[in-house]
Amino acid sequence: MASPPELPSNFMLVAVLCCVITVIIYGSRKGRMPLPPGPPAKPLLGHLHLMPSSNASAVFHNWARIYGDVMHLHIPGKSIIILSSHRAAMDLLQAKGSIYSARPSFLLYELAGWTNVLTFLTNDDRFNRHRQALHGYLSAANCVAFQPFQLKAARKLAQAMLNTHVGEFDQHINRETGTRRMSAGTPLDFFPFLQYLPTWFPGAYYAGLAQKMRPIFRKIYDIPIKLVYQQQKEGIAPPSFLLHHLQLMSVNKGILSIEELKGAGATIFAAGKATTASTLMVFLLAMVLNPKVQRKAQEELNRVVGHNRLPTFADSASLPYIEAVVQETYRWNTVTPMGVPHVSSAEDTYQGWKIPSGSLVLVNVRAISRDVDVYQDPDQFNPDRFLPKPEGLNEPRFSDAFGYGRRICVGQHLAHSSVWIVIATILATCTITNATDESGNIIVPVPEMSDGLDSHPHAFQFVVNPRQDTEEVPMLLATEIDEL
Ligand code: HEM
Repeated sequence: MASPPELPSNFMLVAVLCCVITVIIYGSRKGRMPLPPGPPAKPLLGHLHLMPSSNASAVFHNWARIYGDVMHLHIPGKSIIILSSHRAAMDLLQAKGSIYSARPSFLLYELAGWTNVLTFLTNDDRFNRHRQALHGYLSAANCVAFQPFQLKAARKLAQAMLNTHVGEFDQHINRETGTRRMSAGTPLDFFPFLQYLPTWFPGAYYAGLAQKMRPIFRKIYDIPIKLVYQQQKEGIAPPSFLLHHLQLMSVNKGILSIEELKGAGATIFAAGKATTASTLMVFLLAMVLNPKVQRKAQEELNRVVGHNRLPTFADSASLPYIEAVVQETYRWNTVTPMGVPHVSSAEDTYQGWKIPSGSLVLVNVRAISRDVDVYQDPDQFNPDRFLPKPEGLNEPRFSDAFGYGRRICVGQHLAHSSVWIVIATILATCTITNATDESGNIIVPVPEMSDGLDSHPHAFQFVVNPRQDTEEVPMLLATEIDEL
């Protein structure tokens, strides 16, 4: 008779042995797992010599055509993974958010005092508190309260454009900030010792730049909060993110320290201003180049809104073509062509490849926007692609414009409603056309984008006229602005 107690102990032994063997086999396989493919590397430098100094998204897109949508590059001490398909970005950054939500260090910004900024915080407790503070305030439900301000701003913008008549691309939509002149991913991030070298040393220039930017950044932190304190004293503080959190602090319910709050305020300013303004410039460029699209959008506005009033947020559900124009604006020339870098915080495997822990993970958003398997004629600005068949092509919306997973843009709802109401208002009030040169020749802008973390169209000119079929537009604008 087999003794009952012995059976489990044998069983346990076998089970433990199986586990150990599995771990060894899996571990050694994992160790042997290849890295994703990439261009040939040099022995010590890796791919350093191949790293593009400009137009990175186009260069990486060309490589992806050869090596695939998951590429591996390495430079001394760092693995870089470049994802060039929506599926790969979703599989890793979205579905495995717990691994892919850290950020690299942005030493240039740290040296310049640009700290406590959610965009650059890594995946820790401070990140969670900043995200909670910003996410709560900028949630889809909360953003409804901002719509009256956005409506008024959109109408004032259209009025300013009509008054000026001839536009140089960023004349009205002013978005130049100190942060824009500094770029992320400088040599300092890869070789931190450069900060200790004299500024004439190649690459050390950025440390000097950071010192110059410091006092400017300090003002961006300090001035808004001083203003809110002053307005609070006078009892005239309008609702705002800063006021909301100062009030929470005063009843011991704050989740951010005062310095963190200043950083969070600066984040909203810096992360939202340039991206939204650049998106609107892409729209204006698209209108200059695609008069048929402009007419089709205006015909929809004629049908739904008519001539006696201007569009409001309440019209959005009845204006599918305007929504398609907005979606196509995000896709056609994305303003964050390489997204914002993520970092993997643990080793992972994907499609039989090893993704080393600590890899810099970049998404080539522009390559995804040009994926010919998803978007027909991707260089064309064609809002019909998003309309259902048979009228349109029923192509998927371009959600990649706002990023992925736990790092997805916290301002996406605010941004979308700003972009939507500005586009609807401009189309309802203005006609955007080509400028002409001194000899009367039509100037056709070239749809090219600048380099950098956030990208915008190269300078172009356009002419703004009141919409041809509604000459009384300026009057309508003035009356409706007064009523708000
Ligand atoms: C059309 C306008 C905008 C575009 C295209 C855009 C795009 C993006 C992208 C691609 C990211 C990186 C996501 C990732 O790492 O996966 C991001 C992050 C972020 N955006 Fe936006 N954004 C826009 C407007 C705004 C606005 C209006 C705000 C604030 C009011 C804002 C606040 C942020 C913040 C705080 C982050 C960092 C999130 C994090 O690191 O966890 N954005 N945005």
